[in-house]
Amino acid sequence: MPHILLLQGPNLNLLGQRETSIYGDIDLNSINNAAKAQVEQADMQFSSLQSNSESELIQRIHQAKVDKVSLIVFNPAAFTHTSVALRDALLAVAIPFIEVHLSNPHTRENFRRHSYFSDKALAVIAGCGADSYRYAIDAAIKYIQKP
Ligand code: DQA
Repeated sequence: MPHILLLQGPNLNLLGQRETSIYGDIDLNSINNAAKAQVEQADMQFSSLQSNSESELIQRIHQAKVDKVSLIVFNPAAFTHTSVALRDALLAVAIPFIEVHLSNPHTRENFRRHSYFSDKALAVIAGCGADSYRYAIDAAIKYIQKP
């Protein structure tokens, strides 16, 4: 059965409380539940992890290879702009991934304009709030179902 992993980076555990004018009112649980329902509706396996630790995210990406994950939907959060190590982990396991952001980082501070992931991602979806995840999961399902 195809398997989609939703991976979430630092501070996203605070969604719904954190800078709500930028990230909205929806909490992480609601995003995960909606993503899970969407994936299971397509008869695929869903798993998810949010971590504030770069190391834990790297370990989960390594484990994804063992688990035969088909595709990773990833919001690296602040690690988007800093983490060569997470980029290398994704390249090491060679699992296709879609980069997701709630906000559009290009409209914000200059340091958010650079991503260590975008040039390797299947797609980048940003600026649609919680709907960014819905569009990303939809794209992931379509990519997996493509003959
Ligand atoms: C974010 C954008 C990042 O720049 C920021 O550090 C985040 C969240 C987003 O989803 O809009 O933590 O990835």
